[in-house]
Amino acid sequence: MEEELLSFYKSEGRKLPWRKKDVSFYEVLVSETMLQQTRVEKVLSYYDRFLRKFPSLEKLARAKEEEVLKLWEGLGYYSRARNLLKAARMLSSLTSLPETKEELLSVPGIGEYTSKAILALFFHKREFAVDGNLLRVHSRLTKDDRSLATRKKNAELYFQEHLRKGDPSDLNQALMDLGELICLPNGMPRCALCPFEEDCLAHKGHVETLYPKKERKQQRKEEKRTVFLFFLDGRYVLRKRKEKGLLHNLYEFPNVKQTFRDEGSLKKYLSQEGIHFQRVEFLAKSAHVFSHLLWKMDNVEVILRQEAKDKDWIYVTREELENYAIPSAFQAIKKKIES
Ligand code: ADE
Repeated sequence: MEEELLSFYKSEGRKLPWRKKDVSFYEVLVSETMLQQTRVEKVLSYYDRFLRKFPSLEKLARAKEEEVLKLWEGLGYYSRARNLLKAARMLSSLTSLPETKEELLSVPGIGEYTSKAILALFFHKREFAVDGNLLRVHSRLTKDDRSLATRKKNAELYFQEHLRKGDPSDLNQALMDLGELICLPNGMPRCALCPFEEDCLAHKGHVETLYPKKERKQQRKEEKRTVFLFFLDGRYVLRKRKEKGLLHNLYEFPNVKQTFRDEGSLKKYLSQEGIHFQRVEFLAKSAHVFSHLLWKMDNVEVILRQEAKDKDWIYVTREELENYAIPSAFQAIKKKIES
């Protein structure tokens, strides 16, 4: 199976910036961190920008968290950025790189998946980092319909047993591409182009699309919010989020965990809060999906008469907004400002 897979990778594999011959530990760490739960297309521009600003572990180690978060703005899952910075600080103080699974797991942000990706992609050890793509390829190859945790383990063992020859870095990335380009999740997989066509049990039984078996999705909690675009004399209002919890330490447009039936109830609320306004306007609604949470947002523009008292608000011009890391959840408001 190795030869077919590697020859597929050679001719069809994606040419990506972190897939170069002498890729560094740092480049693998940055790319694999960005690629956790994020699509390659999205990661590409962030990766280049990040490496231009922080070309080495040592450069990153000296960065401020705010700078790193700013570069990460829009990529989501911001704890990845915070951990990457902590990892750089820790690793740059060591005399040698962590090279066993245990050592890697002790680095902030490196979990099961990333440790195996680094072992395979940087150290060329015969490990398999099983992501959604590898899981799907494996579950179809073997018609495995057990639980997710079992399938993960099975997939690893299966690939270790069946892909014994060849560079583990290429083998892993070939499997990722197979999942991404051929063994497609929605619609029909392109089995005629698959190097494993002959080996695949699901294909033999014409049941490719029944695998992987769907697991029941956990319900996301829904939260209604009103997000305010406060505006006063050419400046917008931001505030810093708390030090703990969701999106901590990032900046946001002030918002509350409630919506308002109409302008009347909204104006009443603002007055009660001691916010003096000239005008309010409901903007288009928006929504943002977090892994565990869905925000359904009413967005409201409020033209202020004066600065509000006793609020931890920051008044910034449109140009200054660029200096603050504002999560994508507030994209609708940012678009409104840019329009
Ligand atoms: N997803 C996670 N790691 C990846 C890699 N090295 N190439 C493409 N997609 C990936």
